[in-house]
Amino acid sequence: MKMLKDAILNQGKAINEHVLLVDSFLNHQVDVALMDAIGAEFAAFFKDKKVDRVLTIESSGIAPAAFTAKYLNVPLVIMKKQTSKIMTGDLLQTEVRSFTKGTEYQLTVKRMFLPKGDNVLFIDDFLASGEAAFGALSLIKKAEASICGIGIVIEKSFQDGRKRLDELGIPVCSLARIKHMSSNTIEFLE
Ligand code: G4P
Repeated sequence: MKMLKDAILNQGKAINEHVLLVDSFLNHQVDVALMDAIGAEFAAFFKDKKVDRVLTIESSGIAPAAFTAKYLNVPLVIMKKQTSKIMTGDLLQTEVRSFTKGTEYQLTVKRMFLPKGDNVLFIDDFLASGEAAFGALSLIKKAEASICGIGIVIEKSFQDGRKRLDELGIPVCSLARIKHMSSNTIEFLE
């Protein structure tokens, strides 16, 4: 997606060979027009998948996922990384380990927002080693719902997340695939 690749090239900064800083348009400040265009792109790609709801993880997945849900005209459900006193009832949970951040969290969603039999489209901002996506898949399975696709804004193709998801046969749409990066270059996989 050209608009996204331009934003990565013009505003992104590779901190090192593994981590891309995109906090001026995706992770901290948000370019809403770009998120809208990303939502339209995902909605067009998955339009024949009979999506019942879009699922994402707080926090940076929310913006692209919200516009995707808007264009598909379905609800957006946000999986939480932290539970609270008011989050009670029938909860589905799974542990996710973040390799990039070196942290672990309990991914949580209320069962009532992931109904049995629903067709779920998972959207996230980054795909690295795929741990977040596998956490989402685990909750979808616990809910007895089905995954119909995965939409990723930025895929770091040099990590193994994409390969792990392709092995499951799930349709994956990544709008920017980064083949390689260093402090002064960002190379895309076409
Ligand atoms: P994985 O889910 O694919 O295995 O990825 P990993 O555990 O390595 O990443 C965990 C967190 O780090 C996620 O954010 C993910 O979006 C973010 N991340 C991974 N690689 C990069 C990168 O190159 N640049 C940036 N900016 N972020 C990266 P999170 O903890 O869910 O945070 P947030 O959604 O609250 O922002």
